[in-house]
Amino acid sequence: MGTTITGMGYYVPPKVLTNFDLEKIVDTSDEWITTRTGIKERRIANDENVTQMAYIASLEAIRSARIQPEDIEIILLATLTPELRFPSTACLLQAKLGATKSYAFDISAACSGFIYGLELADAYIRSGKAKNILLVGVEKLSEIVDWQDRSTCVLFGDGAGAVVLSEGEGEILSSKMLSDGSLWEILYAPKCGYISMRGKELFKMAVRSMEDACRYVLEASGVSVEEVSLMIPHQANIRIMDSLAEKLGIPKEKVYSNIHKYGNTSAASIPIALCEAHAEGKLKRGDLVMLTAMGGGLTWGAMLLKF
Ligand code: ACO
Repeated sequence: MGTTITGMGYYVPPKVLTNFDLEKIVDTSDEWITTRTGIKERRIANDENVTQMAYIASLEAIRSARIQPEDIEIILLATLTPELRFPSTACLLQAKLGATKSYAFDISAACSGFIYGLELADAYIRSGKAKNILLVGVEKLSEIVDWQDRSTCVLFGDGAGAVVLSEGEGEILSSKMLSDGSLWEILYAPKCGYISMRGKELFKMAVRSMEDACRYVLEASGVSVEEVSLMIPHQANIRIMDSLAEKLGIPKEKVYSNIHKYGNTSAASIPIALCEAHAEGKLKRGDLVMLTAMGGGLTWGAMLLKF
């Protein structure tokens, strides 16, 4: 028995902020944002806090896994925009869900948080520590974006995605998580301040590091690139995804992207994309799926799973 994604859910706030809306806020244009990033619009949480967004996504994941909140043994929540300094947003979510038989904690690995969490959940399940784990990626990046800074404010959005992981037919064939803390200043946010990013450096690092991690997991699992049904990269920039796909030799049709609708939602981006890919019939049981991400830390990694 391997680790299987048995349930999925996501939530994005209804408020849409388009590139044309941003033209009225900062000196930018729809043309610049679209050609440099692939983003057309993003969702902004006005009234929703991170716990509420995580809660809605989690309820859907739990419902689709056909379990009850009391069946969950561990709640892992990846975010770089926690509700409070402490306790963890995972604990706030646990209370809201009434997941009384679980314990809960947050994962801080920026955009890589969701795949870090998947690796952790897989280890728990395979060791026999837990049978059902709820893993959530949630962000309210609009709170830590400087709306005067055109080089960052056009990139990010808010949302949440959740999965239930259980024992089952699926399997995580290989995963490789990495970090290099000496590079932290390339992308960070201070305790009470805004996201600071050296975009050009990050762009090159993102392509190189995700390519290396993807090659590692393919080789470690003895899977050829042609056998991969779908790649779901962290949604940071369409040009990063295109370069990565080209370097790996994966045709564009096999690379899932929804960045045009949501921008970069950091830890939430992969689970939201997983849900949408599944809903669109692009993700079926038995498919080999490659996930890869890169973000603040710097952190990065890749994972190959049989869905
Ligand atoms: N509108 C118009 N012009 C802009 C904007 C904007 N929104 N932003 C920057 N510019 C200008 C710059 O001022 C610069 O002008 P100059 O030449 O007169 O100085 C010019 O456009 C080019 O700017 P660059 O920063 O060089 O543009 P680049 O092509 O590198 O694209 C981008 C910037 C989109 C940020 C890109 O570097 C990128 O995507 N980087 C990677 C981001 C990433 O991967 N993040 C992942 C992790 S995120 C996380 O962990 C939370």
